[in-house]
Amino acid sequence: MLKTDLIKIQVNGTPISIPQDKRVLDAINLSEQKVPTLCFDERIGPQGTCRMCLVEVKLKQQVSYVASCTAMVEENMEVFTHSDSLIEYRKTLLELTLSEIKWDQKSMDNTTLTNNEFKMAVEEYKPTNFFPKLQPREKVKDENPFISRDYDKCIACYRCTNICNDWEQASAITIDGRGQDSKIFSFFDNKLMNSNCTFCGQCINTCPTGALSNKKLELDKPVEKTKTKTVCPYCGVGCGIELISDGKKVLGATPDFSAPSKGSLCVKGQFASWDFVNSKERLTDPLLKNKHGEFEKISWEKALDTFREKLKGSIDNYGPDSTVWWASARVVTESNYLLQKFARTVVGTNNIDNCSRT
Ligand code: SF4
Ligand code: SF4
Ligand code: FES
Repeated sequence: MLKTDLIKIQVNGTPISIPQDKRVLDAINLSEQKVPTLCFDERIGPQGTCRMCLVEVKLKQQVSYVASCTAMVEENMEVFTHSDSLIEYRKTLLELTLSEIKWDQKSMDNTTLTNNEFKMAVEEYKPTNFFPKLQPREKVKDENPFISRDYDKCIACYRCTNICNDWEQASAITIDGRGQDSKIFSFFDNKLMNSNCTFCGQCINTCPTGALSNKKLELDKPVEKTKTKTVCPYCGVGCGIELISDGKKVLGATPDFSAPSKGSLCVKGQFASWDFVNSKERLTDPLLKNKHGEFEKISWEKALDTFREKLKGSIDNYGPDSTVWWASARVVTESNYLLQKFARTVVGTNNIDNCSRT
C-alpha cells in the first residue's frame, strides 16, 4: 500500500477518505469541522504542546485521546472532536492559560482580523473558573517601528520562534527562561532593530493571541473592516496580500495565505505595501515643469501630446536607441508583450526592460 493510498475513517460520524500519510487534524479539516490549534501552524508543522486539539479516537474497540495535530490517521478510525469530556477539558485548559496572561474585553475587541485563534477558543468554550492569577510575563521596551510585543498576552506557544527559525530562517528570536519565567527574547539587548530580524512579520501573523501585533494596523478603532485580496505592488515577485479597509480608507495589509507565496512577505509587503495610497504626496495628475522650473498640473491630453512630441524629437535627432522603455511586473503579460512590441517594431530599439528582472 502506498502512503498516498486512501483509507476510510469517520469524523463525528461523517465518513471520509483520506491518504494514509495524513494526520487526524487533516481529516478534521477535510470534514469541515474544527478544533482549536493554538500551537499549530502548518508552515512549521506540529509541536503537540498546547493540547487544545486533543480528540477522542476509537480504533479496534479501544478508546484513546490523542493530539490531532501529531497523530496519524488509521483505517476505520472513528474520531470525536466535541464529546462532553473534551469540551470540559478544553475549557479547563483555557482557564489555566488565562490565569497566566492578561486578557480582557479590550483584548477580545482588538483581535478581530489577525491573531484571533485564542479569541475564537475563548468564545467557543467560555472559560469561567479562573485559577489564581500568576505574575504576567516581563514587559519589553522595544521601540521598533513595526512590531508591538506585549508579552502580557503570551501563552508560550512558541509559534513565533519556530516560524522565525524554521520558515523565515532569520533566528532573530528565541526562548529565554523556563515555565512562567520564560519569555521571547532577541539577541543581544532584546531589541528587534539590533537583532537579525528582517521585519517579515511572520511572527505577528502566527501569534494566536495578539501578543505580537502590527503597529501600523489601526486595529484599536472599533470600525467594521473588510479584507480584499490583491498582490503587493512592490517588486516583481508579486506576493499575495489582503488589504484591510474601513470602506473609506486603506488601513493596512496582512499576508494572503491562499496565494502561492503562502503568507510570506518582506518588510515592504508587510508594512508599506499600502500606506502610499493615503499619502498626500501621491501623484494624481500629470505635471509639467514650466519655464521657471516649477511643476504645473496639466491635462492628460496635454501630457500625451508633450510625450509624443519629445519622443519624436529624441528619435529624429539621436536615433531610437536614445530611448528606453520600462515595462511593469504589476500589469498583465499581454500589456508587457505590447510594450516590448511597440519598443522593438514601432520605435526600433531593444532598450526594453522590466522590474521583474532586478
Ligand atoms: S519579523 Fe520575521 S525575522 Fe523578525 S522576529 Fe518576526 S519572524 Fe523573525
Ligand atoms: S508571542 Fe505569541 S506566538 Fe510567540 S510564544 Fe507568545 S503567544 Fe506564542
Ligand atoms: S495544536 Fe495540537 S497540541 Fe497544540
